[in-house]
This record gives sequence, C-alpha cells and structure tokens, in this order.
Amino acid sequence: MTSATVFLIDDDPLIRDSIEMALAHTYRLFTFDRAEPALESLQQNPPHLVLLDISLPGINGIDALKQIKHDCPDAQVIMITALEDVQTVVSAMKLGAYNYVVKPITLDTLKVDMANALETIRLRLEVQHLQEKYLTENLPFFIGESKTIQKVMSLVAKIARSPDASVLILGETGTGKELIAKTIHFKSPNFRGPFLSLNCSALPDNLIESELFGYEKGAFSGANPDGKQGLIEAAADGTLFLDEVGDLSPGAQAKLLRFLESGEFYKIGSIEKHTVNTRVVSASNKDFEVLIAKGLFREDLYFRLATVRVEIPSLNRRGDDIIPIANYFLVQFSEKLNRRFTRISPRAAAALHSHAWKGNIRELRNILERAVLVGEGPVIRFQDLGISVSNHSKKLGRLRDPEISDLSGNGPSLPPEGIDMPSLHRSLDSHYIRRSLEMANGNASRAAELLNISYHAFRRLRSKLGL
Ligand SMILES: Nc1ncnc2c1ncn2[C@@H]1O[C@H](COP(=O)(O)OP(=O)(O)OP(=O)(O)O)[C@@H](O)[C@H]1O
Ligand SMILES: [Mg+2]
Repeated sequence: MTSATVFLIDDDPLIRDSIEMALAHTYRLFTFDRAEPALESLQQNPPHLVLLDISLPGINGIDALKQIKHDCPDAQVIMITALEDVQTVVSAMKLGAYNYVVKPITLDTLKVDMANALETIRLRLEVQHLQEKYLTENLPFFIGESKTIQKVMSLVAKIARSPDASVLILGETGTGKELIAKTIHFKSPNFRGPFLSLNCSALPDNLIESELFGYEKGAFSGANPDGKQGLIEAAADGTLFLDEVGDLSPGAQAKLLRFLESGEFYKIGSIEKHTVNTRVVSASNKDFEVLIAKGLFREDLYFRLATVRVEIPSLNRRGDDIIPIANYFLVQFSEKLNRRFTRISPRAAAALHSHAWKGNIRELRNILERAVLVGEGPVIRFQDLGISVSNHSKKLGRLRDPEISDLSGNGPSLPPEGIDMPSLHRSLDSHYIRRSLEMANGNASRAAELLNISYHAFRRLRSKLGL
C-alpha cells in the first residue's frame, strides 16, 4: 500500500518535520498541528492511517480518536505520547487505537508499526473483497425495499458477525428463510466454511439422528461398514441449516439440545465424545407456542435454537417489495429464457399488488417465470400473469381494476330524469360477456373466472342475452 494516505497530527514542529522527512516519499502524508482541521478533512480525504499526538491544544488526542473511529472506522490510529501515561494509553487502546509510540520517537520502530498497521488494513480489505465475491457467487440477490425487510436485513447483518449464536428463522412458506440462512452464513466470519442443510421433515425419525450425528462402524445392521460422518461434524467451522426444525423427532431433539449446550456429541454406537464448532441456523413455518403446548417440541431446545429469532414478514405485509422483486425476476427470467421483456404494465402491477400471496416470494417468482414464458413481450400484461381473478378480487374485496371498469371512483352521475336500470344492466352484462370471451379466447370457464361468477351463472347469462 505504497500510496496509503497518512495523517500526522502533532503540535510539536520538530516531530512533524522529522516524521515528514522520513515518510513523505513513502506515503501520501498530510500534517496538522491541531486535531480540528484534520477532523474536518476526514470525509473528503479519508486516511488509512493516523499518527495522533495525545496532548494537543484544542480537541485532545483521545477525543480526536473517538471521532476518527466514528467517521472512518476502517482507519488505523497510532497514538503518540510524551510519557507512558498508562491510564491514557489504556483508554486509547480500548477506543480502538492500533498501537502507541513514546516520544522521543525512534523512526525505525515507527516505520515497522506503520507497516504492520497498513498490513492489517490490507488483510481486512482482502477478506472483505473475498467475502463479497463469495456472496455474489453463492447467493441470488436479496431484494427488499420495504422498511420491514430493511429492519430484518440489518438484524441479519448483525447476527452474521457472531458465528456462535444459534438463529431461528420464522416465516410462512416461500418468504425467503433459506435465502436468509445462506446470507447469514456468507456474511459471517466463517463464510469460507461449509453451508450444509438438512430438511428435518423429509426424513424418517430413525434416519435423522444418523444424518445429524453420524454413526460408528457396524453401529447397526444395514449401515455403511465404514461408518458415517454426520452433518454436524461435516459442517464444522461453517453453518448447518436445519429446515423445518419443528418436525424434529423427540430423540433427535434431546441430542441436538446437548450439542447446542456443550458443543459435544456422540456418533450412534460410539462412546467417544466429539467436539465441533458448527453454527446452527434453523427455520420453520410452524408456531412454536402451539408445538410446545402440545408437547411436540421441547421448550428448552426452542430457547437454545432461538438465541436470535428472525421473523420474515409475509409478502402481503410488505407491499412495497412486490414490484421491485417482480422486476428483478422479470430481468432474471428474460435473460435465462432469452426473451425481451422490459416492464410490467400498470394493470399487471396493480394485480400483483392486490393478489393474496399465499406462496409469498416463491409464488411471485413462479408467476413471473410463467409470464415471461407465455407473454408476447416486451411488456408483461395482466393476462400473462395467469392470476385467477377470484383470488385477486378476494383481497380487493370487490373487483376494482381501472382497466376493467371505468365505474370506479365516484361513478357516473344519476341524471334528474333517472335511468333505465334494467336495460343498463343488460348492456353492461353483454359488454362484459363479450369482452371476457375475447380475453379468454372463447374459453367460457376462463371468461367466467374473469367475471368472478360461476361457469353455470355465466352460461345462463349468456343464453339469456342471446350471445
Ligand atoms: N427478498 C428476496 N429477493 C429475491 N429473491 C428472493 C427473496 N426472498 C426469497 N427469494 C427467492 O424466493 C424463493 C423462495 O425462497 P426460500 O426458498 O428461501 O423460501 P423459504 O422460506 O425457505 O420457503 P419454504 O418455507 O417453502 O422452504 C427462492 O427462489 C429465493 O431465492
Ligand atoms: Mg425453505
């Protein structure tokens, strides 16, 4: 890092001159005789390293350190102190100073300290860069514009940093529980370790334990003669994702609890204790209060699994995310299926907004995939979505799509002479029967769906109107 930016803040001109002579051709060096101007230029010209005198006129070194760490958390600070005032030095180190040097300064020692501090920064940047690469290579984008999901994501970023905490992710089907579990893994310090998952509801009880803990050679008849490594061990220094954890058998619950309490486990058929460091992230769409009340899930295990609980709100509760996520899938599927879609029509967008999302984001993904596949493009139209109108109108209460009806809002006025209601009804009915048949390409049951009436009612009306 030859062009590293270094701030030197010291009120003693002799020190400034000697350090400047020694370092100016190695670093981009900026010297200040007081803290104030240095602090002011932190934003426009953030330093990699700061050499900071403790006793300064005006803002002192300790207060300046606090502000530097606040404004430029990645910068390293080496304190310069006149005498080894233990108290002050200790408080500086606690505030995040990298090291300290005592006056009179030995330039060679200072150079080594500076090189070490910069190497720490370089390594940190390298890890950050690698972690970002892992994230983009291993994870689809996580889209979330709504305030609710932003809060969830900032919690996820915090949790990720403590790789020892178990996390329980709760949310309806398709809300992104697995995606969040992977995000926690790839944002954690253990991101280079394995991410393994086990669906606890997909395996019979007797297999769950051998999958989780493994077994010794000849542990039971029919077992692999070499024994088997369990997932808890295989995910060492990484993350084990237990999906549908609410379905875990009582035997496996007891063993998992012991592992979470002590980090220890036994393979089936073995008395040898194993210790591993594996983070457990679990997920469920069940209500644990109910499971615990029914005696189906151990309360002590629940508390162990849920050191941190992440609740992902359903898509219906975060309407602001629907269109951004739909646009993301639109781009993704257009590329994948080699189709040219550029946007979603206002009417289709309104339908997506008012749809009752039972399958959450997975359902939205499927709808967009289908639309890109069947639509003509370049715009996704309402009919490309294949959303059934009955479902659509359920959430709306009544069908109120501006493109279907212009009777929304205040509606037409009633003239003083009155209107012929029966004939108006007849003409409205014939208009919509014709339009719906056109839209459904002559398919009467689809046309009935578009009008939110039964097929029989549709047929009756059609023949009554002679259409
Ligand atoms: N915020 C998001 N942005 C983009 N894609 C998302 C988002 N959330 C979820 N997805 C995608 O939606 C799909 C469903 O997500 P995921 O499998 O993580 O849900 P889940 O909660 O584990 O579902 P289930 O309960 O059915 O197991 C995946 O394809 C995932 O990549
Ligand atoms: Mg899942």
